[in-house]
Amino acid sequence: MTKLKKEYIFLGAPASGKGTQTSLLSKKTGLPHIDTGALLREAIAQGTEDGKIAKIAIDDGRLVPIDVVANIIKSRLLKDDCKDGFILDGYPRSLEQADKLEVILKEIDNNINSDFKAIYFDIDETHLIDRIVNRRSCPKCGEIYNLKTKKTEVDGLCDICKEKLIQRKDDTEETAHKRFQTFYNETEPLVDYYKNKGKLKRLDADGTVEEVFSKLESLLEL
Ligand code: AP5
Repeated sequence: MTKLKKEYIFLGAPASGKGTQTSLLSKKTGLPHIDTGALLREAIAQGTEDGKIAKIAIDDGRLVPIDVVANIIKSRLLKDDCKDGFILDGYPRSLEQADKLEVILKEIDNNINSDFKAIYFDIDETHLIDRIVNRRSCPKCGEIYNLKTKKTEVDGLCDICKEKLIQRKDDTEETAHKRFQTFYNETEPLVDYYKNKGKLKRLDADGTVEEVFSKLESLLEL
């Protein structure tokens, strides 16, 4: 029997836990974690033309223009490690991007033999701003921490590579509120879009990291 290519996309509000859970799922399944926000921040750090355009939108809590993101995502999906599947964290984020992703996947593998699932992180917004302002991450390995809910062994240093942790520029309360508005206006309609296609899986994203991961494993029948 032909092996199905696993194509998982993770949808959810800012700080709903997409990055944390993708990282765990990637370790368990071996599927690459494609973190759209991190790829964009990488382009900004490299000072590319795409990066310059991305910076303006990210600093303002808006979506980066569709073609800039699509170019970055397509190049990443064409890499060899994606041939058996991938976990796409943070793409698509609008109906327009969802249509674009279909075109990209058709160009790459003609959508043949794929198991495509959109996992929606369903969680009340109440505590998410607190998670955002307390998030810290490792600039080297990308590991995500939290001053309250996921502390490091040594204050301010990554447990894995001992690098000094950073706070993302868009993790201020003001920008976070704008990111939530962008999420409700542009990304939330994707829940119905994928539901109508029979591709939506709703994850109860409330609980500890371990509890949510256990629910995710059940949802994906792992
Ligand atoms: P991006 O980097 O993708 O940010 P986001 O979607 O806002 O998501 P976050 O990274 O904030 O949160 P997350 O859900 O991954 O949560 P995490 O696991 O880190 O995008 C940034 C920007 O790039 C966008 O605003 C946009 O401008 C641009 N962009 C990105 N994609 C784009 C696209 N497709 N098109 C156009 N523009 C795009 O967890 C958050 C914190 O909570 C951490 O500190 C973590 O330790 C903690 N935590 C996680 N789970 C739990 C738990 N269960 N209990 C307690 N704490 C927890």
